[in-house]
Amino acid sequence: MTEWIWLNGEILPMSEARVGIEDRGFQFADGVYEVIRLYGGRPFALDEHLQRLWKSAVDIQLTPPLTTNALAVEIFGLIAKAGISEGMVYLQLTRGVAARNHLFPDVVEPTLLFYVRPLPPVGAPGSGEGVKLLAVPDERWKRCWIKSIALLPNVLAKNAAVAAGADEAVFIDCGNVTECSASNLFAVINGKLITHPIGTKVLPGITRMILLEIAGELGIEVDERALGEEEAPRAEELFITSTTREIGWVSCWNDIYIGRGRCGPTTIALHKALKQRIASETRAEAPMMVSAVG
Ligand code: PDD
Repeated sequence: MTEWIWLNGEILPMSEARVGIEDRGFQFADGVYEVIRLYGGRPFALDEHLQRLWKSAVDIQLTPPLTTNALAVEIFGLIAKAGISEGMVYLQLTRGVAARNHLFPDVVEPTLLFYVRPLPPVGAPGSGEGVKLLAVPDERWKRCWIKSIALLPNVLAKNAAVAAGADEAVFIDCGNVTECSASNLFAVINGKLITHPIGTKVLPGITRMILLEIAGELGIEVDERALGEEEAPRAEELFITSTTREIGWVSCWNDIYIGRGRCGPTTIALHKALKQRIASETRAEAPMMVSAVG
């Protein structure tokens, strides 16, 4: 089946898409990205993802070539053409092609691309074997709120985790847990939900943000603070959140079992409520609103 890509305003088969050797994304990782999940062919939290894309772009002094509304129209067009129901949209914006120089070019057209790829549906809350975490030093830069394509520390951490028999790496910064290589981390301690505050040290995950709203609706107390490295594996429950996984319950931290290796009740309740929210916002008759920016 042909995989389609939208590249700088043109839809073409992925195999025919070309980006210049001197694209600054390729040479300097000078760009930002988003991953948006599709349910029944409808993007979940599209507005929130586009708002975050704009913030990431502005914070690296890059102006997207389309408005959020125009981009949303193009994304809907590609989803329809791809005919993919369960999957994700990967979107990348770089500063564009220019003769290699650390300085920003005076004149340059950004490179904007996105494509749709199928993904298996996420399992029922509490299902599966649970995520095994490996703790690694957080060696990333100090602007983790930007969804930068410079992901080498994340890539190395994830590979170290898998090489050690784990599934995901959890970052430790000065004795505190920040987040994971491609997900945010939450703990349940004394019935309270704890996650690192947004700021310089974590990506402000869209799933994280929605889950904090849901916790409020369910009457679960939330404490946005850093967890200690020794404290985290003693939590009653741990879970990770991301667009592609929704919620992944954690069964192990290094060699330590969490909640006796079973998914806990708070994680299940939150995941059920998240699934309800996704179902209601992605049903065919739900309005798809995008706030105007750009
Ligand atoms: N990763 N933290 C990091 C470092 C991430 O890369 C991600 C997402 C998250 C969760 O953010 P959200 O809930 O908005 O997906 C947290 C994506 C899915 C990826 O890189 O593929």
